Amino acid sequence: MSAPNIETIVSLAKRRGFVFPSSEIYGGLGSAWDYGPLGVEICNNVKQAWWRWMVHERDDMEGIDSSIILNRLVWKYSGHEDTFSDPLVDCRECNARLRADKLNLTEKGKEELIVAGHHELADLPETERTLKTWALNIKDGRLKCPNCGSTNLTEPRSFNLMFRTTIGAVADEDDPTALAYLRPETAQGIFINFANVLTTMRRKIPFGIAQIGKSFRNEVTPGNFIFRTREFEQMEMEYFVRPGEDERVHQEWIDYCFNWFITLGINASNLRFYEQPKEELAHYAKRTVDIHYRFFPEREEDERQWDELMGIANRTDFDLKAHSKKPEDAEGKRINPDSTEDLSYFDEATKERYYPYVIEPAAGVNRTVLAVLMDAYSERTNDKGEKRVILKLHPSLAPIKAAVLPLAKNKPEIVGMAKAIKRSLQPTMRAVYDDTGGIGKLYARQDEIGTPFCITVDHQSLEDEAVTVRDRDTWEQERVKVADLQQHLLARLQPAVRSEQGV
Ligand code: GAP
Repeated sequence: MSAPNIETIVSLAKRRGFVFPSSEIYGGLGSAWDYGPLGVEICNNVKQAWWRWMVHERDDMEGIDSSIILNRLVWKYSGHEDTFSDPLVDCRECNARLRADKLNLTEKGKEELIVAGHHELADLPETERTLKTWALNIKDGRLKCPNCGSTNLTEPRSFNLMFRTTIGAVADEDDPTALAYLRPETAQGIFINFANVLTTMRRKIPFGIAQIGKSFRNEVTPGNFIFRTREFEQMEMEYFVRPGEDERVHQEWIDYCFNWFITLGINASNLRFYEQPKEELAHYAKRTVDIHYRFFPEREEDERQWDELMGIANRTDFDLKAHSKKPEDAEGKRINPDSTEDLSYFDEATKERYYPYVIEPAAGVNRTVLAVLMDAYSERTNDKGEKRVILKLHPSLAPIKAAVLPLAKNKPEIVGMAKAIKRSLQPTMRAVYDDTGGIGKLYARQDEIGTPFCITVDHQSLEDEAVTVRDRDTWEQERVKVADLQQHLLARLQPAVRSEQGV
């Protein structure tokens, strides 16, 4: 079983301290969320699992952590200033602000939607072509508002998604020399450091550079809890290969990535591949395959149940060329007159110089957390006929690994022993002590937040130096000597603790 809808997770997340609406005491801030005590733990565990799998366990990988605010020229030459925009449309009937690519099809649209490659528009620059395509579809009544069904929509206009800021003590907020952006992807920080990493780490192609960090997009239609927000975290890796090897390596990464989500405990039947059609491809991509998760199981139509968890793109040599001083266009003019570096690569083995192709697996931390929470959600009825929620998280992702509970909180010897056990576990795992309710209530609370083990200290423990270890998923209990407890839990938590220690 998994969560029946995102709303179930929103309510659990707020009730149990995973995620809170941001700025709540001032009325909130649209689609912004704060991660609470358990949320920050699960986010950190997802990032550690990714870093271990992507960087530590491989021989061909390095990691970096680049700035969020980069020189504006990075975004000029990456193409983001010109093309990182959404087509914005207003509904004249209900005043909703909409993305043209999220409008619904009318009956006419279902029969004959014009696509971006339409012959009359084929010669236009990309952004203009996309806008004109949507404009034609809207004018001819092929699209309608998803809120009220009206076809009375404005012409689409281009809205750049990058957040703008100014650098330094500027007199004028619009001073173009002070303009900068918050990064909309972590990837560009990797491309501009390609030569630095290559030379300092004495790497040869093929190899990859990984990065985890915040990205920002002024999304037109954020929503669905932490699925689409304006501030989010990405886990991206750029893998540099010889041109010609790109298609094979791309396919390999598509398969590795799918399997990684399975190792996190996500059910394969809630994951699928999605091959992006040509008209959806980003300006830099030759082929992109997304991994979708069933984020909306409550929707009737199967196709509408899925959305993107991760994208794996073949970015060709677009980025390294775009940031290089060397390449020239057809008329022999430098493509990039501002860069001071040539990011081509000299292959010692073949004595060839080329611009490496790039394969990019890019996942969202927040969407991975949402998918993991939805997939782990289950319900069970106890002996008294009461419904209990159990979050069957993979142990490596569980925010708390062990909860130590005293059976009698008014017995100082029992409380003292329970607190000492909790302290002895702390160096190797996240453990907590809780005496704020009866034992049934305490078990239920730990089940609901996904704690794999509850350790109960009772009167007998004072005599036999043993405790009861209760399993979250089976509710089975076994007696374990306190002296053996740490090893017992570590063995059952593997590889959970490996991930915490970053081994
Ligand atoms: N460098 C390529 C890139 O950024 P993307 O498909 O736009 O590709 C990669 O983003 C991943 O980042 C997505 O698959 C998704 O998990 C996450 N992501 C993108 N926009 C997001 C948003 N507004 N809110 C939350 N996560 C987002």
